[in-house]
Amino acid sequence: MTNSADFRQWGKEMVDYIADYLDNIADRPPLSQVEPGYLRKLIPEEAPHYPDKWQDVFADIERIIMPGVTHWHSPHFHSYFPTGNSYAAILGDMLSDAIGCIGFSWISSPACTELEMVTLDWLGKMLRLPDSFLSCTEGGQGGGVIQGTASESTVMALLSAKMRSIRQYKALQPERDQYEIMSKLVAYTSEYAHSSVERASLISSVKMRMLPCDDKYALRGETLAKAIQEDKAEGLIPAFVCATIGTTPSCAFDNLEEIGPICEAEKVWLHVDAAYAGTALICPEFRSLANGIELADSFNFNPHKWMRVNFDCSAMWVRNQTDLVGAFQVDPTYLKHEHEGKVVDYRHWHIPLGRRFRSLKLWFVLRLFGVSQLQEHIRKQVNLAHEFEALVRKDARFEIVADVVLGLVCFRLKGTDVENEELLRRVTKTGKVFLVGSHLNKQFVIRFAVCAPQTTSEDIHYAWNAITEETNSPLLNGITNVSNGK
Ligand SMILES: Cc1ncc(COP(=O)(O)O)c(C=O)c1O
Repeated sequence: MTNSADFRQWGKEMVDYIADYLDNIADRPPLSQVEPGYLRKLIPEEAPHYPDKWQDVFADIERIIMPGVTHWHSPHFHSYFPTGNSYAAILGDMLSDAIGCIGFSWISSPACTELEMVTLDWLGKMLRLPDSFLSCTEGGQGGGVIQGTASESTVMALLSAKMRSIRQYKALQPERDQYEIMSKLVAYTSEYAHSSVERASLISSVKMRMLPCDDKYALRGETLAKAIQEDKAEGLIPAFVCATIGTTPSCAFDNLEEIGPICEAEKVWLHVDAAYAGTALICPEFRSLANGIELADSFNFNPHKWMRVNFDCSAMWVRNQTDLVGAFQVDPTYLKHEHEGKVVDYRHWHIPLGRRFRSLKLWFVLRLFGVSQLQEHIRKQVNLAHEFEALVRKDARFEIVADVVLGLVCFRLKGTDVENEELLRRVTKTGKVFLVGSHLNKQFVIRFAVCAPQTTSEDIHYAWNAITEETNSPLLNGITNVSNGK
């Protein structure tokens, strides 16, 4: 492709292809059916020396790529948590790709920095975050940044907490060696926190304790306070807590109102991971799920999960920018500019130097949906989850194992793990719907997440039928009978 005439024509073909793909996505199996290594067999061993024809490339999308795609936006995809998608965000990404700037500092593309600050203030207000998180707050120290993922936000929060704790301890006991202090730091999270939290501790070399939860799978203040006291008695230094709003296994909510005051009293950094559930806070009826957020040092959620923004767009706010920015400053001459110090230079806010113009897709989504349509989307999906929950509750063979608050339903056959694992395996094998399992209270449970915006009540019934058909199948009955001792 060498000229804009080709781009205009091929671009239109691609737009049509994308619209057809998304219009008819329900006709494709949600989970890819290929075997490992399928793709190499379909592709030449070397890149073409001379340009291929567009028509050939275009034809290979269906021939080579689509068989190996798991269709996250299918209304029969009920795995993990949703990932965002919308035409508004795709258009924003197209423009970002065309501009192709690398917005590491204000001067490297002022709109890239300023639109990010403004859209994150908009977003913070939509979620009713405390003013102390917003960059528009007069005299405030807060601010927001778009990270690639929630995992990166947790790593940044933990690394910043580590540096802050070292500073705090050096101020009290200047004779102590910083590496000795570092070896004593300890972080806390719940046993149901996302695996990325444990990973953040490995990356930042801070020991992490995974604390037990209550019967709602939530971390409580009392448990945290006890762990902190134990560790202090051992000469360790509590530095960081990651609480979750909407845990991955069951969408549980750690008790921020109990955890926040403990962190404040102990000078421990509180990070709140609301990767999935954060979007629901734009609905006033769900805002109380974040009660206690005022005492958090940092907060993160993924518009790229539930807010119709395509991956990657993970919004993170901090109450005190200098904790983040001051922790990892390096200043080579080639990155200096005349407005430094008076403007935000996002290169100090995350790990990579380079950054895309991600706020464009967020801006497009916020403007082209408006808050009202985004709220509608959340409410519709929560209602669909309750519809699925009602179907499960009506069938005496099954039980619901966690409160259904947002778009996730955790359920299981009243039986053994073996039966539940077998049921999930069989349902997956049908290719009709795609769900995954998780463990709660050491028991295997099946997760049903409402994911695609296209999902309707009919799709909920379709999924439930796919599950009950397999439950009724003779072989599974056999397993059930065996495990029941019949
Ligand atoms: C609660 C929670 N935190 C973090 C993550 C990781 O998100 P990311 O892929 O943006 O790092 C997930 C992913 O589902 C999640 O559910």
